[in-house]
Amino acid sequence: MTRAASVAAVVATVIATLGAAACGGSEPQGVFTQSVCPPVDPPTYASFGMQLVERYCTSCHDSAKTGTQRGGAPLTIDFDTLSLLRMWTSQIDKQAAFGPAAENQLMPPAGKPAPTDDERRILGEYIACEVAN
Ligand code: HEC
Repeated sequence: MTRAASVAAVVATVIATLGAAACGGSEPQGVFTQSVCPPVDPPTYASFGMQLVERYCTSCHDSAKTGTQRGGAPLTIDFDTLSLLRMWTSQIDKQAAFGPAAENQLMPPAGKPAPTDDERRILGEYIACEVAN
C-alpha cells in the first residue's frame, strides 16, 4: 500500500467508527449489576436513596425542572420522589451502580459530582431492595 493509500484507509476506518457511534440510536446502555438487597440492615430511601439522588442526580433529573435547568436530562426521567425513582430502577442500576456483574459510570455525565465507588455499590444494593419492595 502506498503511504497515501494507508492514510486514506486509516481515515476511512476512523470515520466508520465515529459514524457507528453517532448513529447508535438510543443512549449508551450499561449492564445490569446483579446486585442483591442485603438481608441485614438494607439501605432504604430514607437512609440512603434520597440523599444519593439529591447529591448526584436531581440537579438535572427533577420533575420540577424544565428546559435548560435539566442539563439535557430527558423529560420524565426524574428521581425527586420515591415513586418516581421506582419507575426507573433498572435504568438507574445500569447507568450508575456497581455490583457483582458490572461497574456502571455512565451517569452522572463526565465532569459532574459523582458518587464514590462505595456509594455506587450501595446504590446497586439499594435499587435491588426497591425492586424487591
Ligand atoms: C448534569 C445533568 C445530569 C446529572 C447530574 C445526572 N444526569 Fe442522568 N442524564 C442526563 C442526560 C443529559 C441524559 C441523557 C443523555 C444520556 O443518556 O447520556 C441522562 C440520562 C439518564 C438516564 C436515562 C438513560 C437511558 O436512556 O436509559 C438515566 C437512567 C439517568 N440519566 C440516571 C442518572 C442518575 C442515576 C444520576 C445520578 C447518579 C444522573 N442521571 C445524574 C443528565 C444528568
